[in-house]
Amino acid sequence: TDRYCVFGHPVGHSKSPAIHADFADQVGDDIEYVATEAPLDDFAGAWRRFVAEGGRGANVTVPFKEQAFRLCDTLSERARRAGAVNTLILGDDGETRGDTTDGIGLVRDLERHGVALAGARILVLGAGGAVRGVLEPLLAQGPASLRVANRTAAKAEALAVDFRDLGAIVGGGFEAVEGPYDLVINGTSASLAGDLPPLPDDLFTPRATAHDMMYGAEPTVFLHWAAERGAQTVDGLGMLVEQAAESFFQWRGRRPDTAPVLERLRQAL
Ligand code: ATR
Repeated sequence: TDRYCVFGHPVGHSKSPAIHADFADQVGDDIEYVATEAPLDDFAGAWRRFVAEGGRGANVTVPFKEQAFRLCDTLSERARRAGAVNTLILGDDGETRGDTTDGIGLVRDLERHGVALAGARILVLGAGGAVRGVLEPLLAQGPASLRVANRTAAKAEALAVDFRDLGAIVGGGFEAVEGPYDLVINGTSASLAGDLPPLPDDLFTPRATAHDMMYGAEPTVFLHWAAERGAQTVDGLGMLVEQAAESFFQWRGRRPDTAPVLERLRQAL
């Protein structure tokens, strides 16, 4: 039995063990996948111990994605760009490879919803780690333009500079937002506080999509606001399942069907 886990702090409410158990059942793999709380000041030690006990790979969540990035022997290009790692893969040579699957998970979920990214005008709200993690895969789809807007404008401007060799990306404050956009992605944690970034009423094109990286039993404040303005709304639950599927593929070389797994999670919210 190959062993995997998700590291977090706290990690008790992680849906990853259930998702990966579903994936393994589906493809007929015999794996173990558990949730592990790593100590805040010694993530590298936790990973080393897990490997010594037969661990083959891990997912990494808050607050360890940057510590995970630093311990890797090799990194995927998208992880290097993100400056963070959500997937650790133990190679047969004993080296630790780091990847981040959040951005490709977002892209796959948007594709599943029929959202055309090539040629689209995209607005991304927020400039923290969550947003940095998805910019490379988004820009790789060839949008017409991508604006990053953040409460602290300087952070969005700096982010745009870091990624500008990959495409037409600009950054600024919310006041610089000028619609309409085909796709607006909320990567701020404002939803957690029930806050809505200050946005103009004419933000969306007629067939626009609004995506929130957060999810819950009820639509987030942002998705509620977007639906009232005619946008198709997509929450972060699909992105969660798609990033997990990409991690599973990195470890096992098989792509599970995400639809039934997402369906089950949705029922249980
Ligand atoms: P994460 O890893 O989830 O991205 P983070 O790095 O702390 O977390 O980033 C949080 C993001 O949400 C930031 O873009 C933050 O804006 P600031 O850079 O100006 O702090 C944004 N954010 C948090 N609370 C917000 C609120 N109430 N309104 C608007 N933006 C908010």
